[in-house]
Amino acid sequence: MSAPAAPAPGAPVVELDLAELRDDPYPAYAELRRTAPLAWVPSVGRHLLTRYEDIVRAEKLPEVFSSREEGSLLLRTVGPNLLREDDPVHRRLRAAAEPPTRPRQVRDLWAASFERTAHQLLDRLEDRGEADLIADFAEPLAAANLALVLGLRTASAHDIADWSRAMMAANGNYADEPDIWLRAERATRAIEDAVAEAVDAVTDTPDGSVISSMVHAADPVSPTEIQNNVKVVIGGGVNEPRDVFGVGAWALLRRPEVLERVLKDPAVWKRVFEETARWISPIGMYPRQLAQDHEIAGVTLPAGSRVALVIASGNRDESVFERADEFDPDRPHRPHLAFGGGPHFCMGAWVARHEVSAIAWPLVFSRLKGLRLAENTPDRLDGWVFRGLTSLNVTWQTP
Ligand code: HEM
Repeated sequence: MSAPAAPAPGAPVVELDLAELRDDPYPAYAELRRTAPLAWVPSVGRHLLTRYEDIVRAEKLPEVFSSREEGSLLLRTVGPNLLREDDPVHRRLRAAAEPPTRPRQVRDLWAASFERTAHQLLDRLEDRGEADLIADFAEPLAAANLALVLGLRTASAHDIADWSRAMMAANGNYADEPDIWLRAERATRAIEDAVAEAVDAVTDTPDGSVISSMVHAADPVSPTEIQNNVKVVIGGGVNEPRDVFGVGAWALLRRPEVLERVLKDPAVWKRVFEETARWISPIGMYPRQLAQDHEIAGVTLPAGSRVALVIASGNRDESVFERADEFDPDRPHRPHLAFGGGPHFCMGAWVARHEVSAIAWPLVFSRLKGLRLAENTPDRLDGWVFRGLTSLNVTWQTP
């Protein structure tokens, strides 16, 4: 299967400026949905698929929209892994890794530790009266929780966050910068050492973690497959919970009437989570490659064509979500696409939902009294492949 970096015959070509997309991709997506729902975008080197129904349709056809993208930077960074495999290999790897991330396991095995870590981070902040909740709270919390669920006992939250940044930089290293590859190589070596220690520890004594689950899988997973899957989870499991925490907290601090209602009725936190993930999706798009010729959105894509499923755009599709650009936790329920769909539906969805909506937000808003956005330090949203706040500067009354 060749992968032509060229438009399919008949596909509209739309020039988009990457800096503008990073700044705010939503106006460009609205235009694409209206005029060219499948468009070749030269700066991205892919066809962008932007309407909700088309993305859902593509996700129902994994045998057509393959996850085995040729020449992907992710493959170069971590090697073959579950995210970039199709069934049956994907199914075997997913079945081995997934059990510790299911809702019951999250509640029974991990929730108490998630809560303890959140309290410890807030203990350190409470007297300060000001913080950047992204760097000082959300990122270390997401990293520590990930280390726990993966079973990386010797890695600190700082290590995990650092490795995650190195992996993500490499996955987006389209400019082929040698320093970025070097940093990623150092991170992957360190992850391999940490995984090897964890594998040794759980071989005789299973501990319920993702690594333990892969080591003891009924359908065996090789040591390299374990390494690579851990790398991919580290690369993608820190920034998304961090970003959904940050964007949701920011949205509430700018809408006191919604915040007041959530504080009175904690059941609303779950709706706030789903609406935040829909409104500003932490992952904006992900790639697929056509395994066979297929017609979608009025264009016949030849086998090998590169496509990006732009879920951030599908999540703002006005034909599905009324007033789609507004943040409204009370909107009628329609399933959003922020966790993807089909066989690769996010494995960490229940981990993220619990750590953010049941623990991080309720604790931050109850412990930091009078929490408000800091004046004169505007927080900026950034990114289109991944999107979130670069900082969340807040102040509160000290005890
Ligand atoms: C709000 C937080 C999160 C969001 C929005 C999110 C989003 C996504 C999306 C869109 C995909 C599909 C990508 C594709 O099909 O190419 C995905 C896959 C995945 N996610 Fe997440 N994610 C989040 C948190 C997490 C966490 C905390 C973990 C780890 C505990 C995690 C682990 C994974 C894994 C392993 C996959 C690959 C699944 C497979 O290929 O079968 N995610 N995620």
